[in-house]
Amino acid sequence: MRLFKWSKTEATFIDDIDAEHQDIFRLAGELHQAMLAGAPAPRLQEILKRLIASFERHFRHEERLMRSVDYPIYDWHKRQHDTVRKRLRLFLPRIESGEPEAAPLLLEFFSWWLKDHTRLTDRMMSAYVRNHARAMAVAS
Ligand SMILES: [Fe+2]
Ligand SMILES: [Fe+2]
Repeated sequence: MRLFKWSKTEATFIDDIDAEHQDIFRLAGELHQAMLAGAPAPRLQEILKRLIASFERHFRHEERLMRSVDYPIYDWHKRQHDTVRKRLRLFLPRIESGEPEAAPLLLEFFSWWLKDHTRLTDRMMSAYVRNHARAMAVAS
């Protein structure tokens, strides 16, 4: 079973957000495969660094989008992003030092967080953003 497979249940119907999600799922899957194959710490670290960069670009994008429509539950959504930022900062040195439990623990966290956050939190955001765009189009 592939743990990190993006599917239509994760679709937000905002094309560039969906493309970023697919990229994050793909990188998390790559990290998972590398871990299962027993890849050395520098290899895991290299994938993780790409995953961190992808997350950061994506979180900033969503946060910009939410601010642009005065999203009423921005703080709640951003707090969930901040949890991941914190966790990634914590895990990078543990993976760098070759701690064997670090990658499995991080992947276990992501296996539920990614789906949970995308299906609920991001889809709530995208519904609001799309309604806002529709209302603006009617008003103009
Ligand atoms: Fe998000
Ligand atoms: Fe997202």
